[in-house]
Amino acid sequence: MTAPRALPALHATPLDLGGRTALVTGAAGGIGRACALRLAAAGAEVRAVDRDAAGLETLAEAVSDLGGVVEPHVLDLTDLDAAERAAAGADVLVNNAGLQLVRPIEEFPPDAFHTVLTVMLEAPFRLIRGALPHMYGQGWGRIVNVSSVHGLRASAYKSAYVAAKHGLEGLSKTTALEGAPHGVTSNCVNPAYVRTPLVEKQIADQARSHGIPEERVLSEVMLRDSAVRRLIEPEEVAEAVAYLCGPRASFVTGTSLVLDGGWTAH
Ligand SMILES: NC(=O)c1ccc[n+]([C@@H]2O[C@H](COP(=O)([O-])OP(=O)(O)OC[C@H]3O[C@@H](n4cnc5c(N)ncnc54)[C@H](O)[C@@H]3O)[C@@H](O)[C@H]2O)c1
Repeated sequence: MTAPRALPALHATPLDLGGRTALVTGAAGGIGRACALRLAAAGAEVRAVDRDAAGLETLAEAVSDLGGVVEPHVLDLTDLDAAERAAAGADVLVNNAGLQLVRPIEEFPPDAFHTVLTVMLEAPFRLIRGALPHMYGQGWGRIVNVSSVHGLRASAYKSAYVAAKHGLEGLSKTTALEGAPHGVTSNCVNPAYVRTPLVEKQIADQARSHGIPEERVLSEVMLRDSAVRRLIEPEEVAEAVAYLCGPRASFVTGTSLVLDGGWTAH
């Protein structure tokens, strides 16, 4: 019998982001908070961006309990110039902030459509634009865009969200092509429904738009196409983000890491 080959050192190495600054948007809650904690646990100094000052304070306490370092940055990402400035010097950028509105197109308020596109597509563009000069200068950078199954598939009544996420997929791929010669990767992670306030808040809207009671939304709308019949946890998404920031993923760029319980296997 042949002796097993020794595992390459990479297999035994935990993610080490010591000396790196990781900017996470939407870090005050849900997936962003889980990403901030995961990257802080890997040693990154986390620049936590959100418009929710109280949520950032709670995050800061949790990060310091871990022995990590966080720089809270209260910012509304509709201020695009400020968003671009905030990204200067980041080694890792996680574009995560987002919002949802569930309405048929003919009832969808145009100003809400504009806000969703601004926060979820234009702000990521400006943050990437702000982060790239430093990443290119040092020949290393990691950009992770928190997309969704809705970056790859549409659902009725989510025109702005689906449009923004499909746009984010294109932005991420273009960033990957431009960044590759400079050691910068850009990828999306694409979860199905995650157990976060964003999902809890849309249950009433979903019930109204689909004409069903709220207690049927989870099974008949959210989990309808999922082979794994549960919501995914924010920490599971954060683990995928961490993978994309690590040395094992340096060849992974311009792609979408789908965490959808089999939804898109249909
Ligand atoms: N929850 C899900 O089922 C799910 C599934 C797939 C993808 N996603 C994506 O994950 C990301 C995070 O979603 P979540 O579920 O954690 O949502 P969440 O509502 O729990 O958190 C979103 C965060 O973004 C912040 N934010 C929103 N608008 C902002 C603005 N203008 N400026 C600054 N901060 C702002 C909020 O304050 C909040 O802290 C979003 O991009 C969302 O589209 C979520």
